[in-house]
Amino acid sequence: MKISYSAAVNSKIDIAIYPYFENKITKKHVDAKLFKGKSGEILLVPTKKILLLGLGKKDKLESADVRGLFAKAVKALMNGKYNKVGLYWDKPLNNFDTEVLEGLLLPNHHVAKYKTGKDLKKANDKLIKELVIIGSGLPKGFKKHADDINKIVESVHYVRDIVTGPPNTVSVDFVANEAKKAARSGGFSVKVYDKVWLKKNKMGAILGVNAGSGNKGAKLLIMEYKPKGAAAKKAPIMLVGKGLIFDTGGYNLKPTKYIEDMQQDMAGGATVLGVFRVLKQLGVKRRVVGVVPLTENLIDAYAMKPSDILTAYNGKTIEVRNTDAEGRLILADALAYGVKTFKPEFTIDLATLTGACVVALGDRYAGVMGNDKKLIEELIDAGKVTDELLWELPLHKDFSEAMKGIIGDLRNADNGTSYMAGSSKAGAFLQYFVDKSKWAHLDIAGTAYVQKPKVHESQYGTGYGVRLLAEFLRKI
Ligand code: BES
Ligand code: ZN
Ligand code: ZN
Repeated sequence: MKISYSAAVNSKIDIAIYPYFENKITKKHVDAKLFKGKSGEILLVPTKKILLLGLGKKDKLESADVRGLFAKAVKALMNGKYNKVGLYWDKPLNNFDTEVLEGLLLPNHHVAKYKTGKDLKKANDKLIKELVIIGSGLPKGFKKHADDINKIVESVHYVRDIVTGPPNTVSVDFVANEAKKAARSGGFSVKVYDKVWLKKNKMGAILGVNAGSGNKGAKLLIMEYKPKGAAAKKAPIMLVGKGLIFDTGGYNLKPTKYIEDMQQDMAGGATVLGVFRVLKQLGVKRRVVGVVPLTENLIDAYAMKPSDILTAYNGKTIEVRNTDAEGRLILADALAYGVKTFKPEFTIDLATLTGACVVALGDRYAGVMGNDKKLIEELIDAGKVTDELLWELPLHKDFSEAMKGIIGDLRNADNGTSYMAGSSKAGAFLQYFVDKSKWAHLDIAGTAYVQKPKVHESQYGTGYGVRLLAEFLRKI
């Protein structure tokens, strides 16, 4: 959305939002009885071209509420009647400038991208085209900050579209091309390695998952953001994302009700790409490397079977006990390759990795685990700022033990008891591929894709994690 500025309300603004704390209405818009400013109260007066938004009691207002309240106001205006929406900026909002802007910008998205004709036009017409900030009390540096938020939100929408998009469009090649396109304008480089390269580099785990895909290849994306300056000389930060285009489960086929939305299984990879798109705009000072393995998990005569043994990039052999535990396989090669090649200061991986995480934490928290307390705490803190909450799950040595194989080094699922502490065991498996290097794993299976969106989200892909990582990286 375009953001512009105006000192006062003008006739070109289709409607102006006036936010008020409870009983602190400073302008006389309507009869005092009609609007008190209670939290979540909305009074739309089209004839006066105003929307009054209640923020409740000032001392009760929390960061996450602000985002929700402004999102609610914008949603009330997304009906095709309003192109240019104004926001009357009152000084007390200055503490919450990020949340106000995110609240206004995040909902302005629709998922009806594959509709045609009138229906598509209708969905597009409902979007708000321009936000006008009205007022003179803006905090210092506001405009640059607003541009940054706008770019981040645009990337959240971009990730939503990739995650929601159908797998016959959002294919391995599609995502690879998106990365190339993004790199051209985003100030980072991308290398796309194909199956021949994967074979030469002995990435047997990615190739094992890809084996059932016929001539639909696997790819490994390596992105690199290299800013100028002293901080960029330090060891890089590595982001790794699961890019599983569609997860049928393989021979351990997913049943109906579990298979339908498995195009979401590349959300980790899409999020890494989404984060790379904002690094330059945010002026991130550190070098950042992104690694995204891309493949589908399909079935044909060559598909991997339970009881196959794969050899990963680091030479470890893996018993395939369950072909549906494929995410940890493709991440195994990606992590081992990334750690060895780039020697990062630390690694963060994101993956829609386990159904167990959805059961444990729902769509409110993503799971976080890892081998470095400080890194985990910093990620949890960043998540509190953006309201993309993280909850730490334990990595116990018994879980690592459970992932050891009997005839091979490791196994991708433990027989019979894989439903117990499923997310932790997946994490414990990944740990074998980062060795001692600092690492945190985000299981976003419950948060990346939702049926019931929060007010600032869209149904399906949420873009969860883009704002969190942007917040984390801009402070580093
Ligand atoms: N992609 C799934 C996990 C998932 C489930 C993501 C629901 C999003 C929503 C993953 O590949 C998977 O199938 N994991 C298995 C592991 C098990 C076989 C050890 C699971 O969680 O059931
Ligand atoms: Zn699976
Ligand atoms: Zn999967």
